[in-house]
Amino acid sequence: MEKINPEVLELWPELDWISDPELRNKTAMTWHKALEKSVLEAGDLKRIPFTLLCGPDLKVSFMNHKRAVVHIARESGLKMNEIFGEVLPVNMDVLISGAILADVGKLLEYELDENGQTIQGTYGKYPRHPFSGVSLAESCGIPAEVCHIIAAHAGEGDMIKRSTEAYIVHHADFMTFLPFKSLNTTVNSS
Ligand SMILES: [Fe+2]
Repeated sequence: MEKINPEVLELWPELDWISDPELRNKTAMTWHKALEKSVLEAGDLKRIPFTLLCGPDLKVSFMNHKRAVVHIARESGLKMNEIFGEVLPVNMDVLISGAILADVGKLLEYELDENGQTIQGTYGKYPRHPFSGVSLAESCGIPAEVCHIIAAHAGEGDMIKRSTEAYIVHHADFMTFLPFKSLNTTVNSS
């Protein structure tokens, strides 16, 4: 296997939360491949807004949003395991890997315009990142239960039966996205 770009490990200290070294390595490798294919550099992810759907003034960076999703998903999984115990076990490795990878396909969705600004490219319009994310992840040997989280994290996942871990990531993602969208709508309509 290729040596992982150290920038991936710097972007994602949360990889250390994955206890299985093989899954941790495959998760890191998926981000490595996405960065290789992307017009974006690792540093851009700390600067560009996490979505193009909340107007030009959004202050939350791509990386801060992804990190929030991973942290909220982990805390939720730990609490659910603590309270529901054996009734509804959450696989923490699957959950954390899936949360780290949910938006990895977004790296292929961006293009840079002539001013160096990020815009949505055709990849974002057509396959969208749940599909491109699964494709990247499978090429790195990511197991099916984690690919399921990537596939089901966004609106496309409303059409399929989500696993417990996929529900957690889906809600962690949307609870940290929809309020910004509402805020923007309110500002624009007032
Ligand atoms: Fe997403």
